[in-house]
Amino acid sequence: CRVRNYKFNVVTTNTTRLCSSKPIVTINGKFPGPTLYAREDDTVLVKVVNRVKYNVTIHWHGVRQLRTGWADGPAYITQCPIPPGQSYVYNFTITGQRGTLLWHAHILWLRATIHGALVILPKLGVPYPFPAPHKEVVVVLAEWWKSDTENVINEAMKSGLAPNVSDAHTINGRPGPVSNCTSEGGFTLPVQTGKTYLLRIINAALNEELFFKIAGHKLTVVEVDATYVKPFSIDTIVIAPGQTTNALITADQNSGKYLVAASPFMDAPIAVDNATATATLHYAGTLANAATTLTVPPPQNATQVANKFTNGLKSLNSNTFPAKVPLSVDHNLFFTVSLGINPCPTCKAGNGSRVVASINNVTFVMPTTALLQAHYFKTKGVFTTDFPANPPNVFNYSGTPPASLATTNGTKLYRIKYNETVQLVLQDTGIIAPENHPVHLHGFNFFVVGRGTGNYNPKKDQKSFNLVDPVERNTVGVPSGGWTAIRFLADNPGVWFMHCHLEVHTTWGLKMAFLVDNGKGPNESLIPPPSDLPKC
Ligand code: C2O
Repeated sequence: CRVRNYKFNVVTTNTTRLCSSKPIVTINGKFPGPTLYAREDDTVLVKVVNRVKYNVTIHWHGVRQLRTGWADGPAYITQCPIPPGQSYVYNFTITGQRGTLLWHAHILWLRATIHGALVILPKLGVPYPFPAPHKEVVVVLAEWWKSDTENVINEAMKSGLAPNVSDAHTINGRPGPVSNCTSEGGFTLPVQTGKTYLLRIINAALNEELFFKIAGHKLTVVEVDATYVKPFSIDTIVIAPGQTTNALITADQNSGKYLVAASPFMDAPIAVDNATATATLHYAGTLANAATTLTVPPPQNATQVANKFTNGLKSLNSNTFPAKVPLSVDHNLFFTVSLGINPCPTCKAGNGSRVVASINNVTFVMPTTALLQAHYFKTKGVFTTDFPANPPNVFNYSGTPPASLATTNGTKLYRIKYNETVQLVLQDTGIIAPENHPVHLHGFNFFVVGRGTGNYNPKKDQKSFNLVDPVERNTVGVPSGGWTAIRFLADNPGVWFMHCHLEVHTTWGLKMAFLVDNGKGPNESLIPPPSDLPKC
């Protein structure tokens, strides 16, 4: 294993999309940002130099960060942000992971333009558990906003109302031929007949799950969130913000151009009107002006299309890559994930109320110093460890909501001893409207042992849990009007954020954190903080 050194300059870059230019915050001037490459067991050092007016942090989404929470990145959770003019070196080792992950800013809404791929190759000489592809291609899906995204969310928080949506989706930074700004072009994926390609697909969008499909071609899914799955073939994948999917595509046509489409999936009665992103799969030897074979993206509410993909996911569970599902449970948790309404006398546009979000009715309040430091240095008064294991009000989560369910504010953590096991059922509620929430847990992978519609019923539903080969992920969709059950082993001491990866829901408070104590063994404690860790 080796050390990989990277330098990230956080800079302002004028960028043109949809026929207009605006300054955006980028890493090294690129949108999307640079791809980081490493191998399993490598140590990665990224020096982040902040040359913009905002405070900045970077999160290595899905990297386990065993005992190195200081390098995880969520602002005010594991670190104070890097102030303008200063720098911080993220130092972490990739242990027992290989596949595609992403990195992104983890403060404000800077993730809109500060994101990129993290490609972890297997150890040198170790093959993939599927036929070696001819080439590998990173495909980053995201959004383009004509407005300044910081203004968008600041205005929304003042008014109490929901923010606007983006103006278009993007594939590798470009909306593609769907935009009328023809000079801008779209991403082109060149292929040769008969060859197989590995697509490393990432959803870095702020607020939308996406369908992804390619006209005339099937995708063979081999990995999600940097864990191998049993390969299966499908027309359309669905991918939530924060998730990654590796899929093989064989160029089995003789020639031609084929449309690649990324379009929103919104399993809720909410209209999303931002545009589908398109790109082109281009066979070698095809004339540039040849017509493109088109494909129609699934309708926005095509739940069956999404379910077909989600239900196809099973851990590879081979001898080399066994699914280590916890079979016993120390903490049996039931969390409601909700959008709701709280009073807000100053919210004129919202008629004296504002949209909030909560887990078990707690709207998480960000502290002004980092939780991990407060934990490590035993600073009192920053957080409490009374996060409820169950919701305070039991109601029909998938039926008519109670008239008033104002949330309580708090910086509450749920405390776990080292190496205890957790079963967590995440139940969506329809307090405003049922909505699909992609929930991301920092510091761990978890197994998705069950999933269903309606209210979770412990007696009945637990019987059908898959404890043999459930998919292992770091971000999972809680279905609209339904529930998802996950299990994980708390083998990583520190403070670990869990939140909805729709940025607007995180801002509204759909977040909490787990506090995992040190173990007693020699390598079971959080390491001391690095000397350049920013101060609040
Ligand atoms: Cu990808 Cu807490 O984030």
